[in-house]
Amino acid sequence: MKAIFITEAGGPEVLKLKEAEKPSPTENEVLIKVKAVGVNRSDILTRENPDAYGDDLPSAQIPGLEVAGIVEEVNSQNSKFKVGDKVCALVAGGGYAEYSCVDERLCLPIPEGLNFTEAASLPEVIFTVWFNLFQQAKLKKEESLLIHGGTSGVGVMGLQIANALGISTYATAGSSEKIDFLKKIGVSKAIHYKEEDFQEVLKDEKLDVILDMVGGDYTNKNLKLLQPKGRLVNINAMKSAEVMIDLWQVISKNLILTGSLLKPQPVEVKAKIAEEVETEIWPLFKAEKIKPFVYKTFPLEKAGEAHDLMESSSHIGKIVLEL
Ligand SMILES: NC(=O)c1ccc[n+]([C@@H]2O[C@H](COP(=O)([O-])OP(=O)(O)OC[C@H]3O[C@@H](n4cnc5c(N)ncnc54)[C@H](OP(=O)(O)O)[C@@H]3O)[C@@H](O)[C@H]2O)c1
Repeated sequence: MKAIFITEAGGPEVLKLKEAEKPSPTENEVLIKVKAVGVNRSDILTRENPDAYGDDLPSAQIPGLEVAGIVEEVNSQNSKFKVGDKVCALVAGGGYAEYSCVDERLCLPIPEGLNFTEAASLPEVIFTVWFNLFQQAKLKKEESLLIHGGTSGVGVMGLQIANALGISTYATAGSSEKIDFLKKIGVSKAIHYKEEDFQEVLKDEKLDVILDMVGGDYTNKNLKLLQPKGRLVNINAMKSAEVMIDLWQVISKNLILTGSLLKPQPVEVKAKIAEEVETEIWPLFKAEKIKPFVYKTFPLEKAGEAHDLMESSSHIGKIVLEL
């Protein structure tokens, strides 16, 4: 089969299309003929530092965390899937390829009415949102949520899901076009962080949960903005991970400061997320309360161009590779 390999640590040019051995499903896995694969910021980090997760994870040299396609082989007795089913799945690497094997618990049926490209844009961002906002931060109806990087793949889906569940949303982003987009998807206040100080704009809002991927000087501002019993969840620290925090904010307001990495979580943790996502989130697609936003697609062999676009940060929503 054809696959995109990270040939060495480096820029988008190290991504090369090569021949690879077609994988075979082990027990309780399905083999998916991949039709589309979502691109994530994490793929860039993997490309820059391919050994970051050690050799334990499969296909360390082939990036890609989410795929959509057709089940070609099923290797379990009582599988809920059969050959020919259209599915999307969370994979722990190896997605930029014609075939991918995945534990069937991490496969979901493609929501009605969505094509492969749209479906491939969902698993990584929805699992991340569910794990961090709902399982960890226990975000509830009628609370309020701020997402930094509001037009990232994660941001766009997190904001839509929160709005659909009756949570008021706030977001920051880095261009006027992004701000207009955020208002169109129902964000109460969208802050152009290059022109305004988000802490100043939001100082009178009551924020319960903040999802942050920026870190650095955002951290103390986030802690100051949270109301008592608020929760700050970091899923990255793109500006800086080294921060001197004002612990008094945490102590005096009974705040929770947490974070996580989805990729190295045990399969049982991911399976529980998948189960809850299918029950709680999948119906929101059917009810047309949320939808995928695919900004641009590229053929698999142009994965480097897709990474260039993602690194420019000019996109809104998701970038997808098609096969
Ligand atoms: N921990 C986990 O398990 C997990 C899982 C999935 C994703 N993530 C993280 O969540 C974030 C979103 O992922 P994604 O794939 O949806 O990313 P994405 O679509 O590439 O979006 C990232 C956005 O962050 C904004 N940003 C803000 N400050 C930035 C900075 N200092 N450097 C670069 N970009 C900055 C950029 O938009 P503007 O600056 O223009 O607003 C950019 O478009 C990433 O940081 C990713 O690593 C973590």
